[in-house]
Parts: sequence; structure tokens; C-alpha cells
Amino acid sequence: MDAIDMLLHRRSCRQFTDKQISDADLTTVVDCGLAAPTGMNRQSTKIVIVQEPEKIKLLSKLNATIMNTDSDPFYGAPTVCLILTPKVADYNADSMSLNPMKDGSLVIGAMQNAAYALGLGSCWINRCKEMLLLPEGQKILKELGLEDYEGVGCVALGKPKHQASGKKIKPGRVIRW
Ligand SMILES: Cc1cc2nc3c(=O)[nH]c(=O)nc-3n(C[C@H](O)[C@H](O)[C@H](O)COP(=O)(O)O)c2cc1C
Repeated sequence: MDAIDMLLHRRSCRQFTDKQISDADLTTVVDCGLAAPTGMNRQSTKIVIVQEPEKIKLLSKLNATIMNTDSDPFYGAPTVCLILTPKVADYNADSMSLNPMKDGSLVIGAMQNAAYALGLGSCWINRCKEMLLLPEGQKILKELGLEDYEGVGCVALGKPKHQASGKKIKPGRVIRW
């Protein structure tokens, strides 16, 4: 797929088939995330891949708790990636100290674009930080040896049941000076 085409047409996917994505596709998506630009080339973002249904169920429950809902925030995706970054010490500090969060966002964007280019569906799912702050979330971070990390976002990944197309781009967002 042409890169410009991919960037112009990628959409979020919220309906996945049960079929797992291939390891080769997962590796490509993750590699594209890892190749994203990072402030001072620190490359501090971590990507936690979760494919065990029971673990996804637990994450879904934690994420739903934050939203105060019973529905599955991951839309049944067979793969969920947690994008983590070293804890930001002070969100009000200078812009450099926010770089880890910015880096993580670019990782997610690159992963989503790569997924679309491969014909996969993806969606950024919020509340990654909050769910990992819950006691069960802290336990997961401890198990992974990532207690000093916080969540940027989750990426739901899978084969799309339906790929959305066309998006109305809000006018007035480009200013020439
Ligand atoms: C920071 C951020 C948080 C998001 N959180 C969620 C979310 O929790 N659940 C969800 O279904 N979509 C989420 N999305 C996806 C957006 O709703 C989606 O990107 C937006 O509606 C534009 O649609 P598109 O991705 O198809 O272009 C999030 C996207 C971003 C960038």
C-alpha cells in the first residue's frame, strides 16, 4: 500500500473477528512502533503484547472499571498491546520532561498505520495509565518488572470484521502565517 494512501485512509476499527493475527504481522506492527521518532532518540517506550484470552479479559475488566461500565473496551480484539513509558515526574514541568508521553503516542500512531497497511484493524484504547494504577494493574507491572513505567495507551489489534472508510476532516485546522 502506498504510504500516503495509508496515512490518508487509516481508520480505527471496533469490530474484530475471533481469528488471531499472524506472528509475522504482529512483529511488523511492533517493529514499526519501535521505529517511531523519540525525543533525543531515547527509545524508552515499552510495548507489552497480550494475547492470552484470560489476560485480555483481566485488562478489559480493569479498563471497564475505570469507565464504570460492563462492556469490553477492547471490542473483542484478540491482541492487546500496552504502550508504556517511564513515569513522567511532573506533567507541569518543561516540555522535555513530557517527551516520554509524546514518544509513546508516536509509537501508537506508527503501530496503527502499520496495522492498516497490513489490512489489520486497530484502535487506540484509553485509560491505560489509570487501569495500571489499580492494585491489579500495579501487580501486572510488578510481574513485568516495569514498576517505574506508566501507561500511554492500549492498542487493540485484530482482523477487522468491518473497515470504516471516509472521514470528514474538520475545516479551519490549517493556518498559514
Ligand atoms: C488519545 C486517543 C484516545 C482514544 N481512546 C479511545 C478509546 O478509549 N476507545 C475508542 O473506541 N477509541 C479511542 N480512540 C480512537 C478515536 O476515537 C479515533 O481515532 C477518532 O474517533 C478518529 O477516528 P479514526 O481513528 O477512525 O480516524 C482514541 C484515539 C486517541 C488518539
